[in-house]
Amino acid sequence: MRTEIVVPLLIRDRTEADLPGCGWSGSRLHLEHVAQELRRDDAEYLVACAARSGLPVGKGLIDYRKTPGAGTNGQLAVHPALQSCGIGTELMRAAEERIRARSLPHAELGVEAGNPRARALYERLGYTAYGSEPDGWDEEAPDGSIRRYETTCVLMRKPVT
Ligand SMILES: CC(C)(COP(=O)(O)OP(=O)(O)OC[C@H]1O[C@@H](n2cnc3c(N)ncnc32)[C@H](O)[C@@H]1OP(=O)(O)O)[C@@H](O)C(=O)NCCC(=O)NCCS
Repeated sequence: MRTEIVVPLLIRDRTEADLPGCGWSGSRLHLEHVAQELRRDDAEYLVACAARSGLPVGKGLIDYRKTPGAGTNGQLAVHPALQSCGIGTELMRAAEERIRARSLPHAELGVEAGNPRARALYERLGYTAYGSEPDGWDEEAPDGSIRRYETTCVLMRKPVT
């Protein structure tokens, strides 16, 4: 049987109290990094939550330090069970509103060269590529070991004012 239900979602600022409900989004190491991001005063972290339970099903960071005059979107992810339902799009729109509210002219982001579906989403939202740069971060394996992951990101930009 196939059925459809409407689930009200709320997009709000992420807090440390959300972290125990975000195990789906990454490793213990990732959540430690998120806890540090939450203490920054030059970044905002949004979550999309099921309005009734308050549990997060999507999240995204806006970094105001990386590029002067722009808000840089990052760490966008939606719970695997709820991808392709429009939640990522709504999170991006909410992030652009935050950037606009600071009177910044551009929203930016970096997407891995090997992530064409995410890039397609950003292009649909009006972002255009203007360059690329190497990027890298530490990753935690299931056995707890840490390794450096190196990649190349396509840089994309969209005017928001
Ligand atoms: C990318 C992502 C945040 C989009 O959120 P979403 O709620 O699925 O997006 P929406 O439903 O608003 O839009 C759907 C579009 O997002 C992209 N998308 C959907 N699932 C995706 C996935 N597993 N991985 C990458 N992109 C995906 C596609 O362009 C998709 O369009 P399609 O369904 O026609 O292929 C989400 O899919 C995700 O968490 N992916 C894994 C993590 C990731 O790749 N993050 C992006 C880092 S730059």
